[in-house]
Amino acid sequence: MASKLLNRFPTLNNTAYHILSLPFLRSTVASPFLVHTRLYSEDVSSRVSNRSSLNQVELAKFSSIADTWWDAEGPFKPLHVMNPTRLAFIRSTLCRHFQKDPYCARPFEGLKIVDVGCGGGILSEPLARMGATVTGVDAVEKNIKIARLHSESGPETANIEYCCTTAEKLVEEQREFDAVISLEVIEHVADPAEFCKSLAALTVSNGATVVSTINRSMRSYATAIIAAEYILHWLPKGTHQWSNFLTPQELVLILQRASITVQEMAGFVYNPLTGQWTLSDDISVNFIAFGTKNSQ
Ligand SMILES: C[S@@+](CC[C@H](N)C(=O)[O-])C[C@H]1O[C@@H](n2cnc3c(N)ncnc32)[C@H](O)[C@@H]1O
Repeated sequence: MASKLLNRFPTLNNTAYHILSLPFLRSTVASPFLVHTRLYSEDVSSRVSNRSSLNQVELAKFSSIADTWWDAEGPFKPLHVMNPTRLAFIRSTLCRHFQKDPYCARPFEGLKIVDVGCGGGILSEPLARMGATVTGVDAVEKNIKIARLHSESGPETANIEYCCTTAEKLVEEQREFDAVISLEVIEHVADPAEFCKSLAALTVSNGATVVSTINRSMRSYATAIIAAEYILHWLPKGTHQWSNFLTPQELVLILQRASITVQEMAGFVYNPLTGQWTLSDDISVNFIAFGTKNSQ
């Protein structure tokens, strides 16, 4: 299947030596971009992070368009259109990992899942319809209000627990989940390494963590920023800061440092003729990673 890119990612250890010893990372190390202060955080030992993941500038952007979450033609259209494709990846990886039947109507029955940075609940709702017990958290109060309001109208989604909070606060509350999912959020947080530490701390031992984001590549600058924001007007201008994107190698590394081993990765590729996204081996722009929490 297109999503099996694991063989590109041999197990990574915590040291810079190992970064340099891996050919696919060496080229990134040589580039000035890897001196990417957003990647690094000193305190990797404690379960509870003392740093906030909040980036107020980013949160203000989401707050200003919170009313449009469920407008399928509005600023969140790309997420609506991408949703079936990312759900296909999540269904396939989680079902394989938790030995569930991917073809049944409610394959996630019995799983506790948290959707970190849930926005208006575009992902939380289908996860609940697939049988999961879902908690959706977002740092923007307006998003949570919209998500709650929308979920109340469906019998299968009315039980979603929505909270205006952060991953690090859930860690403080000692919450744990079978699967921790955070899609298109890490590029908006203050410290991606600390954020991954919190995602890992929320994941039960041998549980699953799924993260999607945008690669910091020349192609992403051309497509995700210039085309999507300035030419096609899919997203408001300034939605994304290219320098905040992570390469797949960087994401694998910071997850590994947080005790999550990436097992599978896939790209999302947009076909302008069909208007659809598909899973692909091409991780040069949008990509998603599935990892498992190392047993302690
Ligand atoms: C691009 S949206 C993605 C929404 C949702 N995950 C999806 O893919 O449909 C990013 C969301 O992350 C939220 N967010 C940003 N930083 C956050 C943080 N540190 N903690 C929790 N939520 C955050 C924003 O408020 C926004 O709703």
